[in-house]
Amino acid sequence: MLKTSMKFATQILKVDPAAIHFSDTAHIDGSLPTFSCPETEKNLLKAASIIRDSSETVAFPTETVYGLGGSSLNDESVRNIYKAKNRPSDNPLITHISSLSQLNRKIYSENTGDSKPFTNIPDIYHPLIEKLWPGPLTILLPIPKGQNTLSALTTANQPTFACRIPANPVARALISLSDTPIAAPSANASTRPSPTTAQHVYHDLQGRIPLILDGGKCSVGVESTVIDGLVTPPMLLRPGGLTYEDILRIGGDSWKDCLVESKISVKDNEKVKTPGMKYRHYSPKAKVILLVPNDSAKEISQERIEILRSTIANEVQKEGSQKVAFLSSRYLTGSSLGINCIHESLGTSGKEIQANLFALLRKVDEEDNADLIIVEGTEANDEGLAIMNRLRKAASNNTIEF
Ligand code: TXA
Ligand code: MG
Repeated sequence: MLKTSMKFATQILKVDPAAIHFSDTAHIDGSLPTFSCPETEKNLLKAASIIRDSSETVAFPTETVYGLGGSSLNDESVRNIYKAKNRPSDNPLITHISSLSQLNRKIYSENTGDSKPFTNIPDIYHPLIEKLWPGPLTILLPIPKGQNTLSALTTANQPTFACRIPANPVARALISLSDTPIAAPSANASTRPSPTTAQHVYHDLQGRIPLILDGGKCSVGVESTVIDGLVTPPMLLRPGGLTYEDILRIGGDSWKDCLVESKISVKDNEKVKTPGMKYRHYSPKAKVILLVPNDSAKEISQERIEILRSTIANEVQKEGSQKVAFLSSRYLTGSSLGINCIHESLGTSGKEIQANLFALLRKVDEEDNADLIIVEGTEANDEGLAIMNRLRKAASNNTIEF
């Protein structure tokens, strides 16, 4: 938790995602959800009123990670988001909408009716969002000309704004009931791993926000994939819940030359396109060492394990570590390092590793109080691209190949 004065007695209210029901076209026409649990409805209405009628913020679950939401249309709300997280204000926020109809009405100030829901979305995005929205895909859109609908603080003076329709019913219901586009970064204190449970949010932001909606664990576990289709060739700016391979497969011809920003070497004097990617991020308190499997890691000889063991032993001694935690994934086991450590398994498939990654980093850091965390990485393809992107940041590029 950040050491500043407690402004709020942070409330945690339970909501049941399975009790929220949307029609098949709600993400297009904006029709409202129905509820089969009165408490869930009541708690969502309360949160929606904070978003719509005040400048305060609410933390809520999305399918990727928990977000800290405030109105995208109101400077004071956006200021309160940056303040609660301690986030640098040149790092723009994603605007979450519940439907294309809401995008057209609230951001582009157009009542296009439901006959032309895609009117404000460039063609290049259509195949992707037809298949992938609601879901963990964020697209850049041009800021509407001559409109002051979006707070300039949301976009941090970029010529574009980032936008997505989340899939989590709690998130969709909150945006839909408040009828407000919601700016929401991940609900962690800036620099920390993103939160995938309400308890993670409480740990970081208690006293700093009025309300957390607790809708259980996030299913995806890493943030949305951010893409820019307004440049040629298009770019993947932040790897995330949807893979690069998915974008190529579903996007069709226009996306076949899509570049991956994190793979292009950015010269020091060149501005990175995703402002957020330059900051320290996803970092536990403990030092993190990332073990990177090299190409032929599938068969790890005893000889390579021995080399790894002696490298690790040196590191542990050099750091004077008292309590080491080891998060294993595909190739290594609890005994591979040959040292006494707290061991947790991230899982073996990309989806499992993604879903457990932030929660286990937090568990060994915040509950076990490890002073050194060693993490077995994975190949940087499919889900592995986002996993390794987050882990390299968590480890500040402290890596050992094995
Ligand atoms: O899954 C997610 O995307 C979560 C949940 C809450 O929806 N949100 C999230 O927001 O991860 P945040 O603020 O932690 O990350 C937003 C990323 C940052 O890397 C930011 O720099 C980038 O999107 N971004 C936002 N607007 C942008 C813009 N106009 N141009 C380029 N990058 C932008
Ligand atoms: Mg974040």
